[in-house]
Amino acid sequence: MLLLFLLLFQGVCGPEESTAAPQALGSHHPAEEPLSFRMLQISSFANHSWVKNRGSGWLGELQTHGWDSVLGTIRFLRSWSQGDFSKEELKRFQRLFQFYFYGFTSVVQAFASQFQFEYPFELQISAGCRMHAGEASNMFINGAYQGLDFLSFQGSSWEPAPGAGSWAQNVCKVLNQYRDVKEIVWVLLGHTCPRFLAGLLEAGKSDLERQVKPEAWLSSGSSRGPGRLLLVCHVSGFYPKSVWVMWMRGEQEQRGTQRGDVLPNADGTWYLQATLNVAVGEAAGLSCRVKHSSLRGHDIIIPWGGYSILLILIYLTVAITLVMLVIIGTWFKIPSSTQNIPSPYEPSPAVSMEAKTQDTRSSGHELCLAEESWLKKRFLKKCKIGLKQLWCH
Ligand SMILES: *[C@@H]1O[C@H](CO)[C@@H](O)[C@H](O)[C@H]1NC(C)=O
Repeated sequence: MLLLFLLLFQGVCGPEESTAAPQALGSHHPAEEPLSFRMLQISSFANHSWVKNRGSGWLGELQTHGWDSVLGTIRFLRSWSQGDFSKEELKRFQRLFQFYFYGFTSVVQAFASQFQFEYPFELQISAGCRMHAGEASNMFINGAYQGLDFLSFQGSSWEPAPGAGSWAQNVCKVLNQYRDVKEIVWVLLGHTCPRFLAGLLEAGKSDLERQVKPEAWLSSGSSRGPGRLLLVCHVSGFYPKSVWVMWMRGEQEQRGTQRGDVLPNADGTWYLQATLNVAVGEAAGLSCRVKHSSLRGHDIIIPWGGYSILLILIYLTVAITLVMLVIIGTWFKIPSSTQNIPSPYEPSPAVSMEAKTQDTRSSGHELCLAEESWLKKRFLKKCKIGLKQLWCH
């Protein structure tokens, strides 16, 4: 079976393979991050007869290709995903992947017991090439079994991952006997891949070099213990991925700033949040600062409590509405209370009113129901605390 797979594999890509040198990279790509094109494969083997293969192609962090496992076709996710390869060449690769997935499945199923793969299991393969600006490219293949690294391709042979156990050595020993496979891998990843990568970078240039400014906003997270406040700074919609976010007091970086993972948005831009756990009284004077290439040095700075005017307005609206409600409430209750018939549904009148607002004085204590007074007290207290916090900032 393995031989059949190899023959198919070679039949498709062997003789026609071009070994042209990769094109030189333009100077527009930052040298610090090596650019890579990688193909990811996730194969889930549920039992002897059921398998699902998923495949995708990635330029750095950007998905450029998908694999339709039902139709057996490459999906080009960007307008420039074909790079500078011709239609014929791409067709050939599509055929190659069809054979590859078929062959891979057959081989793994045939060797499952010898390789000590136990159903159900999942294999993940990451293969591709990276280019350092001005340097020779290098290729890579890594394989994982049940989510753990178990082998990689090193130079000219398969090597078990450190700590992967004797069975990984076993698999490598078997794989290393097949020189043809190694040659194919070498041609595909060592020559075709860099050529494709260079074409892709050129074709997708405007997309890859775009600069999208981040938006930032603040919120408070669930507090970690009494008297503590979790300040959250959200930064979203930026491209490229590299970003700097820090909680600051003036010019002083707050070392307690915790940076989350940079997460993808659906539109290909990125999202990040940075949190700071502080005592409630220390939040004043803090700000979140964002640096990103798209901002061209004009950092975004958002002070904590910067939206206090809005909050004050909300508090005021709530307070005024409450006062109105109380006035209306007392207005309509006058006739019923003059009748002096105790109702089982009406709690006794409020004894004291702490609130010093004008309306409560003028309308008289006796007309206020205990319920209302309780509610109001609670609300006013909250408002007071809230306002106090805001003024303090
Ligand atoms: C194999 O697994 C698939 C998916 O879980 C299931 O639908 C199928 O019945 C299984 N077949 C056998 C022979 O166990």
